[in-house]
Amino acid sequence: MRDRLRIICKNGGNEEEAKNLAQRLEIPLDGSNAKPASDQLVLYFEESGVSLHCGRMSLKGDYEKLLPRLRPDKLSKELLLQAARIRKDKNPSAVDATAGMGEDALLLAASGFEVTLFESDPVIAALLKDTIRRARLQPRLTEIADRMHLFEQDSIKALPNLSSMVDIVYLDPMFPARKKSALVKKKLQLLQHLEQPCEDEESLLAAASQAHPQKIIVKRPPKGPYLAGRKPDYSFMGKAVRFDCLLMRVNEM
Ligand SMILES: C[S@@+](CC[C@H](N)C(=O)[O-])C[C@H]1O[C@@H](n2cnc3c(N)ncnc32)[C@H](O)[C@@H]1O
Repeated sequence: MRDRLRIICKNGGNEEEAKNLAQRLEIPLDGSNAKPASDQLVLYFEESGVSLHCGRMSLKGDYEKLLPRLRPDKLSKELLLQAARIRKDKNPSAVDATAGMGEDALLLAASGFEVTLFESDPVIAALLKDTIRRARLQPRLTEIADRMHLFEQDSIKALPNLSSMVDIVYLDPMFPARKKSALVKKKLQLLQHLEQPCEDEESLLAAASQAHPQKIIVKRPPKGPYLAGRKPDYSFMGKAVRFDCLLMRVNEM
């Protein structure tokens, strides 16, 4: 993927961040105005935000679009939040160990969780960081986005070393079948240029349990196999998705 990636900073974009990312990815920061080839991935840093483009497809995080789902009456119907119910009134905390564009983390934060997000892919992390930054500037999202704390890190390494207790670990690693699905949304098609299907499900699940949460929640396709073959204690089944719940500290539930 890296050989097809260009990073362009224009229109008052954050040059320092663009430069820093280009350096880490060992690709030049592109200052040319040459039109990108249709199969080229281009990450633009602009004053209005960070966006990823490939041919006619583009991706820029937008939590404002999700505001209707964040209304209290709608929020309580979200399957993820039903799966995330815990017996704790104050300061619930969650780790989203596979953050992606942070949309699930946003739901958790909107329902009151303090959410630590880990995203290992540097390009996705740049898009996500910018999405959260812009959300903080939107009065209706500020408080929620302030509860989202992003780290560009591999959660398999980070989870066993968390500095504080966490109530929930949420896992949504890319499922191989999604890659082939004709129904995959355009924005996901773009992300799939960057994401790799999870090849080490055992390590991810082991790292999640080493964080000693009350519960691990795993997002799967409705008929998908269990993560690492581990049977959950119970599941929440939706039309397009299933949330498997693994209880860890059973005595506290
Ligand atoms: C299917 S997406 C998650 C989508 C996310 N739930 C959302 O609401 O936008 C999976 C993401 O997890 C990231 N990922 C996979 N393994 C990871 C790991 N070990 N540590 C951190 N991020 C990881 C991938 O780069 C990808 O962005």
